[in-house]
Amino acid sequence: MNVILLGPPGAGKGTQAKQLEEEFNLVQLSTGDMLREEVKAGSELGQTAKKIMDAGELVPDDLIIAMISDRMDQAEGKNGVILDGFPRTTPQAEALDAMLTEKNIQLDHVIQIEIAEEIIVARLSGRFGCAKCGAGYHDEFKPTQIEGVCDDCGSTEFIRRSDDNPETVRNRLAAYEKQTAPILPYYAAKGTLQKVDGLGEIDEVYRRVKEIVSGGS
Ligand code: AP5
Repeated sequence: MNVILLGPPGAGKGTQAKQLEEEFNLVQLSTGDMLREEVKAGSELGQTAKKIMDAGELVPDDLIIAMISDRMDQAEGKNGVILDGFPRTTPQAEALDAMLTEKNIQLDHVIQIEIAEEIIVARLSGRFGCAKCGAGYHDEFKPTQIEGVCDDCGSTEFIRRSDDNPETVRNRLAAYEKQTAPILPYYAAKGTLQKVDGLGEIDEVYRRVKEIVSGGS
């Protein structure tokens, strides 16, 4: 099963992808996570991407397409992939179609998580993650079970994303509206787009996502 999760920053794509990955033995391919790894490693791509990400803009299509194409092959031996944060522009959507045809992979579900802007701001301002294993949390909506200790690996070090500040979030939302929202009709026209209400408890939203993926493949 191969799934695309679409939606604005903070819609819950990463959170839902993690749950799908675990339950259905899929591979989460998050272009945002890949870019952050490149930034951490100090690679040439990471250095280019850092400035763009901190400004809340999109990294050029050619760099993203090359990066994701490499990673698609990682899904071998698993039940499929969850594309989280990709595609984000029309050229990326078209490149993905070509990639899927070339690799003989079928796309099963394109899920758009819908969420209001005021909720997004609250979600992103409270987000933090484990510095060691990357597990994601939220000050209010998903705190660690023991304060200051990661539920998954026991680490006591956490990080906040440098692009979660109010100004960059505004730019990320603008980039979503201008460059990513226009791909929704592309998938709607193919008949593969399904919408999910992203408001509600994490598990409640997951039940809605699961209903879609369990029903159609
Ligand atoms: P990326 O990392 O993809 O960021 P994003 O799309 O802005 O999405 P987020 O990770 O912020 O949000 P999410 O929807 O995953 O929400 P999450 O589950 O974490 O991209 C970062 C940057 O990289 C881009 O700005 C761009 O520069 C570049 N980039 C990446 N891909 C690119 C591409 N394809 N092309 C070009 N450039 C690219 O949830 C957020 C918070 O809310 C968490 O704390 C979570 O615990 C909480 N939460 C989640 N669900 C709920 C719920 N139901 N109720 C309460 N809290 C919840």
